[in-house]
Amino acid sequence: MLVMRALSIMSTYIVEKIPLVANTTCKLNILIKQGGDSKRVTFWCVNANMDSASSPKESKMIVSVTGATGFVGKRLVQRLHADNHQIRVLTRSRSTAQSIFPVKEFPGIVIAEEPEWRNCIEGSTAVVNLAGTPISTRWSSEIKKDIKQSRIRVTSKVVELINNSKDDARPKVLISATAVGYYGTSETQVFDEKSPSGNDYLAEVCREWEAAALKVNKDVRLALIRIGVVLGKDGGALAKMIPLFMMFAGGPLGSGKQWFSWIHLDDLVDLIYEALSNPSYKGVINGTAPNPVRLGEMCEQLGSTLGRPSWLPVPEIALKAVLGEGASVVLDGQKVVPTKAKELGFSFKYRYIKDALKAIMS
Ligand SMILES: NC(=O)c1ccc[n+]([C@@H]2O[C@H](COP(=O)([O-])OP(=O)(O)OC[C@H]3O[C@@H](n4cnc5c(N)ncnc54)[C@H](OP(=O)(O)O)[C@@H]3O)[C@@H](O)[C@H]2O)c1
Repeated sequence: MLVMRALSIMSTYIVEKIPLVANTTCKLNILIKQGGDSKRVTFWCVNANMDSASSPKESKMIVSVTGATGFVGKRLVQRLHADNHQIRVLTRSRSTAQSIFPVKEFPGIVIAEEPEWRNCIEGSTAVVNLAGTPISTRWSSEIKKDIKQSRIRVTSKVVELINNSKDDARPKVLISATAVGYYGTSETQVFDEKSPSGNDYLAEVCREWEAAALKVNKDVRLALIRIGVVLGKDGGALAKMIPLFMMFAGGPLGSGKQWFSWIHLDDLVDLIYEALSNPSYKGVINGTAPNPVRLGEMCEQLGSTLGRPSWLPVPEIALKAVLGEGASVVLDGQKVVPTKAKELGFSFKYRYIKDALKAIMS
């Protein structure tokens, strides 16, 4: 049912455009012809078709997730499960996944190792692809190879299984993770989704990772989320930084001028969730908060949240001792802004680092 509030009285009218997405508000432009005159008026419409099958938020989704057992994946699965969507965990290890998602807490969850991925992907509504060897580690040449290959291999596998699904059982959506490392690093430039790729190792990883996802069947809606440093309680870079801050006084890392493009875990999960159900979310979307900070400010806020004075710098060498070359993710940053998410009207819960850290530490 389309509920319309008329703004003026008319004699004849021609409807130009009616977006028919369920449970949305839309703008309707109407051309009114009265005698020899014509006038354009705008109506605000509410499509209140509550039981429409085209409302993915209302309808149940079947979502296959790679990397579901990781820092981001776990929270995503919890959210989807809480909203009664059906989850298929695509993992390398059933026993690990079973311990993370015990059937008692996650009744109905399907856990599948690689030979069973085909049966899971076929018939899913959507696939979320988060898998890859952790980046924040010591980088031996072997690990560097694995960081790239693990992502390309899993993404290519997922894409192949989607593309080879029967037409009527093919997932409609693929949300594939990538990272802000795509843009390279800079202390001065600002990067949005249209910015070119950088020329360092992580930029190369991201380009090839995205290229693998871009091979998905053109009928499948693809969203590539270029994720910033994800901040949450029990994992990611923060979990590694906090002990250092407790050990030292908690001042800046390195020069402190490097950019730190962060996102709160809850906002990232909301963004992925929204991308699953909203057809406007397609192409590259930066998964970063609207207000990136310089690393010095991040450290100052973290120090003050942890009750550590921020005058004594945490030596770079300490972070490198924990993260090895992988510390570059934190130590050499880039300023990335979420232009597309803002255009899409995505509402960030945590726009400022201070609020994000406070919420995480509380
Ligand atoms: N966290 C961040 O700050 C951040 C920032 C930018 C981009 N990202 C990207 O977002 C994705 C999710 O991040 P996350 O922090 O949740 O990652 P994570 O905690 O490291 O989890 C990644 C998952 O990938 C799977 N995996 C690990 N090694 C693998 C390998 N060699 N081959 C295939 N699969 C492997 C594992 O799942 P199974 O053991 O169940 O197979 C693991 O749980 C990652 O691809 C990451 O690069 C994260």
